Amino acid sequence: MKALTVVPLKAGTAELSDIDDPPESDGPVLVETLGVGICGTDAEILSGAYGWAPPGRERLVLGHESLGRVLEAPAGAAVAKGDLVVGIVRRPDPVPCANCAVGEWDFCRNGQYTERGIKEHDGYLSEHYRITADFAVKVDPSLGELGVLLEPTSVVAKAWEQVGRIGGRAHWEPKTAVVTGAGPVGLLAALLGVQRGLEVHVIDQMASGLKPDLVRALGAQYHTGSISDACKLPDAIIECTGVGSLVFDAMEHVGVGGVVCLTGVSSGGRSLDIDAGSLNRSMVLENEAMVGSVNANRRHYEAGAEALAKADRAWLQRLITRRVPLADWAQALDRKPDDVKVVVEVASA
Ligand code: BGC
Repeated sequence: MKALTVVPLKAGTAELSDIDDPPESDGPVLVETLGVGICGTDAEILSGAYGWAPPGRERLVLGHESLGRVLEAPAGAAVAKGDLVVGIVRRPDPVPCANCAVGEWDFCRNGQYTERGIKEHDGYLSEHYRITADFAVKVDPSLGELGVLLEPTSVVAKAWEQVGRIGGRAHWEPKTAVVTGAGPVGLLAALLGVQRGLEVHVIDQMASGLKPDLVRALGAQYHTGSISDACKLPDAIIECTGVGSLVFDAMEHVGVGGVVCLTGVSSGGRSLDIDAGSLNRSMVLENEAMVGSVNANRRHYEAGAEALAKADRAWLQRLITRRVPLADWAQALDRKPDDVKVVVEVASA
């Protein structure tokens, strides 16, 4: 079967390869891949900056934002032939650590977890893949191709869960939230914020075009300036850019008792001049919290699936700005200014 493979940590090695059928060891559920979303992590892997091949192998099958249709499943399994499913990305470490042992692999303590399409386990960008039913999440059939948005939605569902749990350490009745970045993660974070009844403000650099339109269509407000200009002392900030200056801006301008959740992975190598003392002082005196959040466990995928199921289909549809056939995969990486989510189509839905 055809698969998009790459030699991790070597730029320019991606190719459409002919590989063996998916191994039985990946699970008894056989899935036909319909589409795979491309994100910044894929771009990083393709540029040679991130990623790990499976042990003893040179190449990794890429792809972690999947949507597929079940072709075969054991009788009585939680998924059945014909179901639209999304594969969970992370697998618990084999030890397992205390978190992986209870299904909280997104909080793996020893770093020995694997991630499909990213770390030591082949991804979903192949014509078929195998999986165990407990790592396949069913999506509402009425979502169709929009189910491919579930993986990034699971990541923001986890971020909102962190914000709620941390906020809930005291009386917590949040009213306002700022989301930095109007890429797919930022827009989905805004969607979930609006679904929570919050007044949501999204900040990005694009002055006009699809991103501001999408934010306004949600009933949220769009800004191009600073956090403090967008919203005075928000209860929560979901930082989706990984840009260092915005991270510190968020710490400085979150409201009293507020929570900043960082979801963007920075590239590193840039320094900022920070008044660490006054930052510390205001964080302490105002009980502010900052938390990093990565990946998602099954609970977050289920929350994400619910959020997508109740979202406006036409709005979700506008997030998928380009679909590229597998044979033309390279075009998916050629970012256009108005791109939000680009999907590599593997089979038709
Ligand atoms: C994925 C996560 C993953 C993270 C780090 C992100 O792009 O969505 O599932 O944990 O990269 O590898």
